[in-house]
Amino acid sequence: MIEISETFIAPHPPGRVFELVADFGRIASWDPNVASSALRDPDAPLAVGARADLMVLFGGRAVPMAYELLELEPGERAVWRGENATSVALDDIRVEPAPGGGTRVHWGATLGFKGPLSLFDRLATRAFTRIGRETVSALARALADPDLQPAPARHSPFAALWGSAASAMDAAVAPSFGAPGYIARRKTWADPDLDLDLSGRRIVVTGANSGLGLATTRALASRGAHVVMVCRDPGRGQRALDDLASELPGARLSLERADMGALDDVAALGSRLARAPVHALVHNAGALVHELQRTADGHELTFAVHVLGPHLLTRALEGALAGAMDSRVVFVSSGGMYTQRLDVDRLRDGLDPFDGARVYAHAKRAQVILARRWSELLGPRGVAVGSMHPGWADTPGVRGALPGFHKVTRALLRTPEQGADTIAWLAASPEASLARGGFYLDREPRSEHTPMARTRSSPADEQRLWELCEALTGA
Ligand SMILES: NC(=O)c1ccc[n+]([C@@H]2O[C@H](COP(=O)([O-])OP(=O)(O)OC[C@H]3O[C@@H](n4cnc5c(N)ncnc54)[C@H](OP(=O)(O)O)[C@@H]3O)[C@@H](O)[C@H]2O)c1
Repeated sequence: MIEISETFIAPHPPGRVFELVADFGRIASWDPNVASSALRDPDAPLAVGARADLMVLFGGRAVPMAYELLELEPGERAVWRGENATSVALDDIRVEPAPGGGTRVHWGATLGFKGPLSLFDRLATRAFTRIGRETVSALARALADPDLQPAPARHSPFAALWGSAASAMDAAVAPSFGAPGYIARRKTWADPDLDLDLSGRRIVVTGANSGLGLATTRALASRGAHVVMVCRDPGRGQRALDDLASELPGARLSLERADMGALDDVAALGSRLARAPVHALVHNAGALVHELQRTADGHELTFAVHVLGPHLLTRALEGALAGAMDSRVVFVSSGGMYTQRLDVDRLRDGLDPFDGARVYAHAKRAQVILARRWSELLGPRGVAVGSMHPGWADTPGVRGALPGFHKVTRALLRTPEQGADTIAWLAASPEASLARGGFYLDREPRSEHTPMARTRSSPADEQRLWELCEALTGA
């Protein structure tokens, strides 16, 4: 949760100031961040249960925020609660006579993001504190106006602030990571449908029986690639393969069983696959678990599946990749990685108490760093290595691991095919052969860090990560 508390003095009597600050219906008349604001019933006197709808501008977008008046002590205090798909806000506004005349205005506000988005709270704190200060200054300026009318325009800083904050997050995260971001960017691509003939290319996809892995397999196999589907459960793997085979007659599909968290399994898989050239290796298998689990090797499960297994398989296949023309390695990371800085000890040991979303984000951060390191190593041998963020896609994994998140964001989520688009593009498009360790979303390299986040790692820590992976995988 992000909390802000501000106090200032306005030169007008408390009654008039309260009238101004307690009404969320007319913020747009003075706050340039708010495109529109309206009470649902503008003719009714302000009372508990009143509702106001705001459209808040951020980065050129207008994002809705619906408010309800929870408490009202006329002339003294108003508490509004705002909500949209991704965030909730509580604004507590008090006014009282100032000792030297005029009115003291206290404003306290709390903003929290819902579900796993709460991981972004820390990143957002500085930006939103700045927005908060700007908004309070704007209110203070409005209230300093000696011509403040007895029946002032209805406006308040509180909704404006949190509307801005929430819309900042919405504009930056939800539409961008959800389907709207994909749909908007797709319009700018030269080859949106990936018009490719991949015959003769052998592509390994881990976690291929479900969600993004299945959609990636479909995208690549339907363009002629031989896709090796790596699945941990032979029954689920075979069913997925059979379904795809009947959907795509003539598709070249084969099945390999391996648990990506079990190092013996991964080593054996690597030796089987290394017998022929590999044109692309997609590290897609992954899961967010809510309890500490250890693999048979004794490693924390999330770390083993997302980091150690992929590292070992890349090592096992480096010759097969380097021996194939124009080959690729793709790490399917996550936007959750933006919330964490590399911390090798936490990555290895998990967190105490265990926090699945954070542990997952640590592993996804490590994948991005590993991809860069692998790129340095394999790039000179003709292998393009990249990591990517699929956005938020509606998959069995998201539904099972994050039901609350799925419920609130369902309308915005991508299809698995939309989420898998950049995976397939990185694995196969000629444009992506230039990938050199970058982190991609919607076919474009992105920064690995959000502005103002302190998530950059030192070369020494990155070296430690590499050495740990090498040591634990017996490389
Ligand atoms: N969907 C999103 O919005 C999203 C966002 C960011 C990142 N991602 C990443 O995208 C990847 C795919 O996720 P998804 O959403 O498509 O989830 P999903 O539908 O649950 O698919 C995950 C796949 O990984 C497999 N898998 C899990 N643990 C494994 C292990 N130890 N060994 C081998 N295979 C294993 C699963 O096999 P079973 O079917 O046997 O469980 C399944 O095939 C993951 O790395 C995830 O972190 C997804």
